[in-house]
Amino acid sequence: MRSLIDIRELSVEEIDELVKVANDIIDNPAKYSEKCKGKILATLFFEPSTRTRLSFESAMLNLGGNVIGFSDSQNSSASKGESVADTTKIVSGYADIIAMRHPKEGAPLVASMNTDIPVINAGDGGHNHPTQTLTDLLTINREKGGFNNLTIGLCGDLKFGRTVHSLISAMSRYDNIKFILISPDELKIPDYIKKNELEAKNLEYVETTSLEDVIGELDILYMTRVQGERFFNEQDYIRLRDSYILTPKKLEAAKEDLIIMHPLPRVNEISVAVDNDPRACYFKQARYGKFVRMALIMKLLEVE
Ligand code: CP
Repeated sequence: MRSLIDIRELSVEEIDELVKVANDIIDNPAKYSEKCKGKILATLFFEPSTRTRLSFESAMLNLGGNVIGFSDSQNSSASKGESVADTTKIVSGYADIIAMRHPKEGAPLVASMNTDIPVINAGDGGHNHPTQTLTDLLTINREKGGFNNLTIGLCGDLKFGRTVHSLISAMSRYDNIKFILISPDELKIPDYIKKNELEAKNLEYVETTSLEDVIGELDILYMTRVQGERFFNEQDYIRLRDSYILTPKKLEAAKEDLIIMHPLPRVNEISVAVDNDPRACYFKQARYGKFVRMALIMKLLEVE
């Protein structure tokens, strides 16, 4: 059965279908309440999470299925030295589908190579987070009405922010997309993303350190947290963590129909005073995550 490790494994047509099903689930939840009756989701989280793990679990429960798993690898036999491959082989005997988060890039891929049941990458190190991207795409679809003709500002930690890497991969396949990459020099988007996603596809992009200079151009502002857990040096983290703080004052220069997104958790990068601005979409975005994960679970389990 098919896994989902990288958003690029889904075609544009498949993403459109997942978004369509997720929208239908929002409108007609009762229709889906028994779609996964008798199925078990295992959530194997080797790294902390609130939204991703709980929305996956809520998604499976809302589909009529059941959930097993762990949210702290210290409470699993990984703490005794068991490998990801062995853990996956064992859990495959207990579950029908796995959602795995791991601090090491590539761990969910290794898992998928050691099982016949679907493995969903729920975030691997600084690499990828495809179901966050599906969440982001559903949000963009619902709030902007489509995926074409958008200027997207990505702001903050573009080096370690795996959600940004997956979002660029996904949005780069639509028409007339311009990216404005806003970050400190030390946290710029990795060269491999620039080369493989932006330059190879001839996409328009600009790199800047100033949010104020570009905020008025944006249709979407995607804020990100500086990922302290991926820094080697705490002093660098302390120096960079408050590089960007979005405030009502800064938003005065933004478009009326801007949408402000954030994968969350937020630390300081969006002032709580912004939460009541009608352009703030981040809490709605987190809610949408459950519906698109329901659509994905059904797709990978080949449920009609
Ligand atoms: N957006 C996201 O991945 O949040 P969690 O780390 O809480 O799962």
